[in-house]
Amino acid sequence: MNITVIGTGYVGLVSGTCFADSGNNVTCVDINEEKVNQLNKGNIPIYEPGLETLFDRGQREGRLHFTTEIEGAVRQADIVFLCLPTPPGGDGQADLSAVMTVAGQLGGLLEDYTVIVNKSTVPVGTADRVRQAIAGQADEELFDVVSNPEFLREGAAVDDFMYPERVVVGTSSERAADIMTTLYEPFVRSGNPIIVMDERSSELTKYAANAMLATKITFMNEIANICERVGANVDNVRRGIGTDSRIGKRFLFAGIGYGGSCFPKDVQAIHYTAGQHGYDFKILDSVMKVNEAQKVSIVKKMEDYYGTDDFSGKQFGMWGLSFKPETDDIREAPALYIAEALVERGAKLLAYDPEAIGTFRQATSRQVLDQTTFVHSQQEALDDIDALVICTEWNEFRRPTVDNFANNMKQPVIFDGRNLYDLSRAEKAGITYISVGRPSVNVPDMATTGNEV
Ligand code: UDX
Repeated sequence: MNITVIGTGYVGLVSGTCFADSGNNVTCVDINEEKVNQLNKGNIPIYEPGLETLFDRGQREGRLHFTTEIEGAVRQADIVFLCLPTPPGGDGQADLSAVMTVAGQLGGLLEDYTVIVNKSTVPVGTADRVRQAIAGQADEELFDVVSNPEFLREGAAVDDFMYPERVVVGTSSERAADIMTTLYEPFVRSGNPIIVMDERSSELTKYAANAMLATKITFMNEIANICERVGANVDNVRRGIGTDSRIGKRFLFAGIGYGGSCFPKDVQAIHYTAGQHGYDFKILDSVMKVNEAQKVSIVKKMEDYYGTDDFSGKQFGMWGLSFKPETDDIREAPALYIAEALVERGAKLLAYDPEAIGTFRQATSRQVLDQTTFVHSQQEALDDIDALVICTEWNEFRRPTVDNFANNMKQPVIFDGRNLYDLSRAEKAGITYISVGRPSVNVPDMATTGNEV
């Protein structure tokens, strides 16, 4: 099939590359000329495991093209995917200007029947709005508008795209449903379903999935907060409940809150949509509030440990800046908020991340930049620090072992926002170890009852 993908951001680039790999002829369009030039030279602007191999193959074999020319790309397409940004506008409502601007251009370009697909996360009713925008300029027989939300995790996007647990297709047109099913069949050979439904349900499915997952994480973060107060261990509680198949084992890891480009934005957006329709989505209101507080909960623990909120004269190591491992994305990353809070309290920082130092530097404040030294190995971030703060669970942080900290740190004190280490090992190694929802180790006053935390 001839596929045109409009927007070469994260979703567009991954989708276009993966569709090309399954034998389609794909043209990706972007208004950013420099980006298109770089892509044509083989330079990918994002870090995503596995993407480069498929990207190189697609270009080498002539199935993956990049251009700024929307006209030709749309005219030759059987399917046009809109993969455009929908950032939060005022009040948390998704800003649809990019989607609607492109929709406004499409009508004049359609010659043969074309399926127009919204892949961006868009508010309920957007498929209807896009249809109306196109219908003003094109015969209704010439197109259908379909909602086809993506469920890609950063860091695992290629795998998620190639082997989806489900594909959701929202359309009331049989013709469009057939074309979309044919397109996606190669990706669900293992038997996972392609679920066809109406447009509005499909649009809502995306928000419901992300809001449910954000709620699940937040629920566990609240259980962790209770564990700290009653002297329980959230790891045990997680194992105890996760084996119930109705609950499931995944997404039950307590930590310093969810971040990224999707959960915060989508929770806000569905909360806003509900409000617009006269419904107060109370549980999501709490999810947002709890998550904000959770991001800096580790700083509160540091204040309790030091018995002051004045950290002048202290230097802290920071491991992990990205919002999660295997990405350089720092959008809504807890590390941004933690760095800000520590510097506000007078601390200096030694920060290390395997991929995200560049993006973090661009996003953080001048104040944080002035007080932070960025280093290029985890080891350097341990030099001459008062304590280590762990914000992201990169695999490389799981080793060195706790013994290594005891030998290499001036004062082996660790505040771990991601629960990386075993408590009994930390105890034996003699390090002070304060994590999330688990008893603190080698801390007399915050000791194993955790009551003071
Ligand atoms: C998410 C969805 O998973 C994906 O389906 C959707 O399309 C886009 O949003 P992503 O934002 O890439 O993907 O990250 P994900 O791996 O889902 O993690 C989101 C956040 O939740 C991260 O900050 C992560 O640290 C946090 N998280 C996740 C937890 O705190 N605990 C968990 O158990 C799982």
